[in-house]
Amino acid sequence: MDLDVDFVRAQFPAFEVPSLAGQGFFENAGGSYTSRFVIDRLTRFYRERKVQPYGPYEASRLGGEEMDEARARLAAMLGIESDELSFGPSTTQNTYVLAQAVRQWMKPGEAIVVTDQDHEANTGPWRRLAEAGIEVREWKIDPESGHLDPSALENLLDENVRLVCFPHCSNVVGEVNSVTEITAMAHAAGAFVCVDGVSYAPHGFPDVGELGPDIYLFSAYKTYGPHQGIMVIRRALGEQLPNQAHYFNADTLYKRFTPAGPDHAQVAACAGMADYIDVLAEHHGIGGGPAERATGIHDMMRAHEVRLLQPLLDALRARNDLRLLGPDRAEGRAPTVAVALREPGIEVARRLAGHGIMAGGGDFYALRALEAMGVAPERGVLRLSFVHYTSAEEVDRLIEALEREL
Ligand SMILES: Cc1ncc(COP(=O)(O)O)c(C=O)c1O
Repeated sequence: MDLDVDFVRAQFPAFEVPSLAGQGFFENAGGSYTSRFVIDRLTRFYRERKVQPYGPYEASRLGGEEMDEARARLAAMLGIESDELSFGPSTTQNTYVLAQAVRQWMKPGEAIVVTDQDHEANTGPWRRLAEAGIEVREWKIDPESGHLDPSALENLLDENVRLVCFPHCSNVVGEVNSVTEITAMAHAAGAFVCVDGVSYAPHGFPDVGELGPDIYLFSAYKTYGPHQGIMVIRRALGEQLPNQAHYFNADTLYKRFTPAGPDHAQVAACAGMADYIDVLAEHHGIGGGPAERATGIHDMMRAHEVRLLQPLLDALRARNDLRLLGPDRAEGRAPTVAVALREPGIEVARRLAGHGIMAGGGDFYALRALEAMGVAPERGVLRLSFVHYTSAEEVDRLIEALEREL
């Protein structure tokens, strides 16, 4: 069964507002539209439950329960225990806090592996551990293809490495890295694994329990939710890393790496992300437990995206005046397509806006990846990113607009 795109779009108020009518949205990797479930929960929280949660009165009880519901339901969909999921202001801030914990946990002379494929959020904070005497080893991409070769990681692993950090999918290369294979290699060498899933999760919730990393991070605001960072920290690592929260919260795993008070309303509204997956599963006749339903929807989203992506890749590949970054086959990549041009990417994005195409241009905080691939960050790339709610007609319009403006 194919994804029912009309049904999908009916769950997003953005497709109904007059100001966005006729606009093809191709900057989803920057932040997705929000599903109606999330908007409704957020609004209800502000109207009816905007009090200190977990208190003895009704509004407070309901607010606290909704926050717990968000954590429990998302954790179940991701195939992990509910106290292994926590919320923070953004993925960048979550990584920053984790890096402070890792700095206290590692000893000088021990090593960490980072990549030059990552968004700065999952590389900069880790590289700063060098200030504490920790050896930083860089797993480098292929300068032509942007590919991260697992066999190159093999050479970087030894008994000194405590943590390997890499992206599930880069926000400019788009290739989906084999988390299972890479995690198994790191674990075999005695290292833990931290995966940036920000560019992957919008294309379907992964079963993190099945994939195996110790840390998996993504951003709810790019995954049809509110502006929150979501952090999976598996128990075996979370209980070892020093607590970063108030001392009296040290025994609660989901509080250990969120020193700030949570944004109650936004945490509660994250339950709407689970509502959305459940409604899609029901509509498409997918049953089973939460992780099975999420996986079923993940596969439908990916199939739809792959079908729409190949014609765009073909149209770009056919030109000799641009460079397509990352793979040109849709199966192995996310529909996050960066192209390097003879002019700054932002200039083309500006012209595309005149055709009702919303796209982005710049470095997207992936300066290291662009530099490694020989793309000047100040010129940057044009990035065309879509998700499962994008229609074939919108991709056709994008291709036509590109033909006029490139
Ligand atoms: C791949 C990737 N990782 C991390 C981030 C940072 O996420 P946040 O904005 O939640 O800090 C982004 C944001 O664009 C991203 O694209």
